[in-house]
Amino acid sequence: MLVNLRSMLQKADREHYAVGGYNMTTLESAMAIIEAGEEEKSPVILQVSEKTIDYMGLDLAFAVAKTLADRAVVPVCIHFDHGRNFPMVEDSLKIGFSSVMLDVSKMPKDERIEFVKEFVSKAHHLGATVEAEEDQIGGREDYVDGNRGHFTDPKRAAQFVRETNVDAFAVSIGSTHGKPLPHEKLDLELLAEINKAVDVPLVLHGASSTDEKVVREAISLGICKINIDTDLRLAFTRELRRTLKDADIYDPREELAPSRDEIRDEVIKHIRLFGSSDKA
Ligand code: G3H
Ligand code: 13P
Ligand code: ZN
Repeated sequence: MLVNLRSMLQKADREHYAVGGYNMTTLESAMAIIEAGEEEKSPVILQVSEKTIDYMGLDLAFAVAKTLADRAVVPVCIHFDHGRNFPMVEDSLKIGFSSVMLDVSKMPKDERIEFVKEFVSKAHHLGATVEAEEDQIGGREDYVDGNRGHFTDPKRAAQFVRETNVDAFAVSIGSTHGKPLPHEKLDLELLAEINKAVDVPLVLHGASSTDEKVVREAISLGICKINIDTDLRLAFTRELRRTLKDADIYDPREELAPSRDEIRDEVIKHIRLFGSSDKA
């Protein structure tokens, strides 16, 4: 069943768990994410990035996600991840995405609030929700890159959220996209300050390979949505390399199914860590 972020994250906030935002890169990963949610009776956020849209087209990416969401017996949010191509984000809302992320970290500071506020009002009118990122989240992952120096300022974040009316806010507290960088460390004291200042659910990006204890602490400090992409790609690729060693396998379905199952198991692991099992 297709939902937006609002009810999903409000419940997570009240009951102190987080819902995973899992990136779909192919049909197989989309199937695996939904299968994991159903097995665990967990809500899931199926995320589509600009790179995935370039790979399979907005219409096909949405058709896959929507078919899976409609079939699912758990709540599924179809979310545009890291929207920097704003006309493309608008198109995704028109086609039926239930949620979008606006990444305004590359936009001049004095234009951000007006732009996001107007966008949020359009999205709400269509029944969709908006997550926003103001300060760059570190690391690099294909289309998404950022500088580690820009951590979230709690006061500025509070003003941004109040004035734009966004539904969720992505924090920059030291996590990085992609494979973990040396010395990557989350600033949990800063997270506690942001949590006091900002009254919408908080989002943690770049959470692959983050220490489990740190993830649990971050959830206790207001993180309600946690984005995972790299861990899923690594699981897929590891298994595919193993499968391809068998020269007798030359059917793409037999090559891809074990990798799809590995993504499902990886998502299940995260669902359990985030505490969203049985929360559907
Ligand atoms: O946060 C970044 C996402 O993992 C998207 O990655 O642009 O390679 O699809 P991508
Ligand atoms: P990782 O790939 O580092 O898990 O980050 C995912 C993400 O933040 C998607 O927006
Ligand atoms: Zn991200």
